[in-house]
Amino acid sequence: MSPGIPARTDRDPVPIPNGEAGTPGARASAGAKAEEPGIDPAGDRHGPAPADPGGPSILARLRHETRSHHEAIERVVDVDRLGASRSAYVRLLRGFLGYYEPLEGRLAGLPWEASGLDFRERRKAGWLREDLRSLDPDGPPCPTCPDLPEPVDLARGLGCLYVVEGATLGGRVVLRLIGDRLGIGPESGGRFYSGYRARTGAMWASFGRFAEAHVAAHPDRADAVVEAASETFDSLRRWLSGTGPGR
Ligand code: HEM
Repeated sequence: MSPGIPARTDRDPVPIPNGEAGTPGARASAGAKAEEPGIDPAGDRHGPAPADPGGPSILARLRHETRSHHEAIERVVDVDRLGASRSAYVRLLRGFLGYYEPLEGRLAGLPWEASGLDFRERRKAGWLREDLRSLDPDGPPCPTCPDLPEPVDLARGLGCLYVVEGATLGGRVVLRLIGDRLGIGPESGGRFYSGYRARTGAMWASFGRFAEAHVAAHPDRADAVVEAASETFDSLRRWLSGTGPGR
């Protein structure tokens, strides 16, 4: 891990419902969030809804059980290499676009809205397109990842969404570390890595509430959520290993 990156360890408080320690802001208090002026702390304070008292928090499980997958993908998205050249950064954005766009297409087919989550506001491919328009306007079309997870139901969709929603938390850290070196800011090539900007904490908290409520209503699908999250991390890592920075 590069210097300056707060560790995503199990020692940190996990986002367990109903507690200050459960918020991503609290988890990063010694690191990213504390230094991020744009984060909306009020959003975090609402906190995720209580989990089913009979079962563990799904967010806690996800965080714990995908930890090694996160570490593996962090090694591929190597911040030092990324910060060393704009072309590596552009290559990474192109890799993300080739994965996020088709994955979002699949996720959009699930009945999120009927279950209370506005999926449209969670699409991120448009941010990637915006960055690529400003940094690589004449680049060739992006190749599309052929090896995507299959979110056949909301539980598996939740696992996929966990990965891309959680990435907005670390993304802001990455932008802080490489932005100056590359001359990239939130409005100039760093839209994707700015995540939901000041709403990042609130969006993560509301995703958490949705995930906890879904699994509380369908406890038998908890394993499918975690499995889909692991598959998403792994397929994205494989894809970025071939297209990412330094390749
Ligand atoms: C160099 C690359 C990366 C770094 C430095 C990084 C760093 C971090 C950090 C510091 C957090 C914790 C943020 C907080 O507690 O507020 C985090 C959370 C997370 N990151 Fe990353 N990340 C990286 C890449 C990625 C990628 C590529 C993905 C997936 C697309 C990803 C998915 C996640 C998820 C799902 C979480 C939420 C964990 C949880 O609390 O359950 N990260 N990351």
